[in-house]
Amino acid sequence: MVFHFISMLDIKEDIESVLHFASEIKAHPEKYWTVLANRSLGMVFEKPSTRTRISFETGMTQLGGHALYLSPKDLQIGRGETIADTARVISRYVDIIMYRAFSHSMMKELARHATVPVINALDDLEHPCQIMADLLTIKEKKGGFDLNLVYLGDGNNVCNSLLLGSAVVGMNMTVSTPLGKEPNAHIFKKALEIAEETAAEIKIVHEPEKAVREADVLYTDVWVSMGEKEKDKSIYIPYQLNMNLVKKAKKDVIVMHCLPAHRGEEITDEVMESGHSVVFDQAENRLHVQKAIMLWLLGLMP
Ligand code: CP
Ligand code: NVA
Repeated sequence: MVFHFISMLDIKEDIESVLHFASEIKAHPEKYWTVLANRSLGMVFEKPSTRTRISFETGMTQLGGHALYLSPKDLQIGRGETIADTARVISRYVDIIMYRAFSHSMMKELARHATVPVINALDDLEHPCQIMADLLTIKEKKGGFDLNLVYLGDGNNVCNSLLLGSAVVGMNMTVSTPLGKEPNAHIFKKALEIAEETAAEIKIVHEPEKAVREADVLYTDVWVSMGEKEKDKSIYIPYQLNMNLVKKAKKDVIVMHCLPAHRGEEITDEVMESGHSVVFDQAENRLHVQKAIMLWLLGLMP
């Protein structure tokens, strides 16, 4: 049986233990320097990346293994080899496949044919590695998840995974988007179902000033995601994470962004540089949590 991590739902049962393990690896990285000796990670990127590529590649090195950057332009996919055949072939060489894809259906197709674990490193529906790093950061900064997280802006892949992650850990989450830009309806429904078991409150509040009241965590992401057509950004302007909104939240609110940020659009310079911002700690945690995710998938988590 091969386990994949292509949705936050895949880690539902193990989320607390993987986060705990990530903290342990972060505190004592040297203990894990050889655990993946002679193992390889194949990283297929259909879209650009700064954080994901560097954190997976250096993470693999720090675990004693090796990572390969694979671009579809250089692979035979670019000349028509199917994703299914590619998955079967790559699985014969590497121990884990990491995939950043345009579409979730291609992600599922690759996972269906791979005989080694597949990690979703972002597609149009989810970004689960990001949300694991976010949850680790929230746990570090706030000590737990008995909190109100408010997501402002576009109901995108990050928002979708954050809904599932919040529901699983029992954190309240309010989504504040323009009308028609709400997160994926199927994911929202699933998050509500899970939230019933964990007593989290999950809701959509279209008015940003109302949404941010009582927020412990404010989160935003770009208004136009990679692979999306240019769209009318003016509808998002009331959702910009600026000091006016920060001041309406709790005094000790933390501000999060998965990055890259478009300063002056979804978030202001002032907020990014303020004492509320934890965005660079959040980015660092990609490294630590992804090590834990790889070891969890390989059955090497103690
Ligand atoms: N947050 C994130 O995934 O960043 P990159 O696109 O730079 O990998
Ligand atoms: N929602 C963004 C996240 C980038 C890490 C995108 O998909 O482009």
